[in-house]
Amino acid sequence: MNEAASKDKRRKLVDATMRRYGHSQYALIETLHSVQEVYGFLDDENLKYVSDALRVPLSKIYGVATFYHFFTLKPQGDHTAVLCTGTACYIKGVPAILSAIRNNFSVEAGETREDGKLSLLTARCIGSCGLSPAIVLDGEIAGQITPEIVVDRIGRMIQNDA
Ligand code: FES
Repeated sequence: MNEAASKDKRRKLVDATMRRYGHSQYALIETLHSVQEVYGFLDDENLKYVSDALRVPLSKIYGVATFYHFFTLKPQGDHTAVLCTGTACYIKGVPAILSAIRNNFSVEAGETREDGKLSLLTARCIGSCGLSPAIVLDGEIAGQITPEIVVDRIGRMIQNDA
């Protein structure tokens, strides 16, 4: 699945949250939760999107995002892996995939590797349950992954800019 298509599916989940709360300004926290659940973190592009959709100033959104400790702003790593830990993915082998990433790349979920090359995050459902288990690598969804596939893909992703 290319980056645009995967972004679109996740965006739809965010849109559904905004609709559910009537696009009112009170929808902000729920919408930010939704962004984090499907993207793993709050990135500039999505914050701008939410700002426009809910007509809330971007400065206020950053204020909310940085005030609450459960929100994670865009990670600092050169590359980002967001592993889906939602139910559909979880029952198809996420624990083994998570261990493989941690062991092979020395990075914990929610953290960035010491050399800054990789940030590992988790999401609660990235809207691609039919492809479970799934991961988003630098914005692109990879489905039906195994520990071996993920280690190979992340290894190549990191090496590419060596
Ligand atoms: S639970 Fe993983 S994509 Fe839905």
